Amino acid sequence: MSEFVLETQGLGITFGGLKALQNLNLQLNKNDLYGLIGPNGAGKTTVFNLLTGVYKPTSGKVFLNGKEITGLSQESINRHGIARTFQNIRLFNNMSVIRNVLVGLHNRSQFHCSALSSMLHTPHYYENERLMRERAKELLRIFDLEDLRNELACSLPYGQQRKLEIARALATNPCLLLLDEPAAGMNPQETAELMNTIRFVRDEFDLTVLLIEHDMSLVSGICDRVTVLNFGTELTHGQTSKVLSDPEVVRAYLGDD
Ligand SMILES: Nc1ncnc2c1ncn2[C@@H]1O[C@H](COP(=O)(O)OP(=O)(O)O)[C@@H](O)[C@H]1O
Ligand SMILES: [Mg+2]
Repeated sequence: MSEFVLETQGLGITFGGLKALQNLNLQLNKNDLYGLIGPNGAGKTTVFNLLTGVYKPTSGKVFLNGKEITGLSQESINRHGIARTFQNIRLFNNMSVIRNVLVGLHNRSQFHCSALSSMLHTPHYYENERLMRERAKELLRIFDLEDLRNELACSLPYGQQRKLEIARALATNPCLLLLDEPAAGMNPQETAELMNTIRFVRDEFDLTVLLIEHDMSLVSGICDRVTVLNFGTELTHGQTSKVLSDPEVVRAYLGDD
């Protein structure tokens, strides 16, 4: 049995003739802050889509805490403990900030209320609602969004929408958090704050984090180890500072721009 929080063995997917990802072998330890990097089109988001059940792999296996989750549905994988954010932010735009987090909390068994209890609005229902709002506010507080809880999600600036998406992902109580370019569109100060917040939630929620990122200062600032993808295959992996100074990795990036 695998001792890793996340392990992939020979993971791959083909679209038509295009090998978007081939033979990916990831091994993440508990509480890792692990980076997945590489030029545009390298297959990074495809990895997240495979890990979360959006795509079914053409080959290979995925294990979460030693349990195989290959090919399970998105809902089932989320219940097993993987939550994610998206490269293109996906919030419920016309819901309030707090509603977006409550949606995540509703999926948790801790806050589960029977349909009958919900319909009849029993005391249990009201107590449950109150507890969920408290929990949602706590999550928003971590991201400095508590005062904005009644605003519409779409009215927030970009950087705050990214933070709200992370809060909503955390509401599902994951053990593994996948962040797809969390600093995209953020200014340097927001990016620096985000690094601290990611470290804080890793410790506070006892998480393992896999993040895709283009901002190399963020990658070297928080990732202990990284895997580099290029054209759907792994170029190398290892300790972040070593990997980022590898001439082959530098060349892959320069070739991109
Ligand atoms: N659903 C899909 N159908 C066809 N091709 C896809 C699909 N999803 C991703 N791809 C292709 O897979 C490759 C990797 O894409 P992606 O994982 O989004 O790259 P990255 O996130 O590293 O920029 C690209 O060539 C992309 O066009
Ligand atoms: Mg991507």
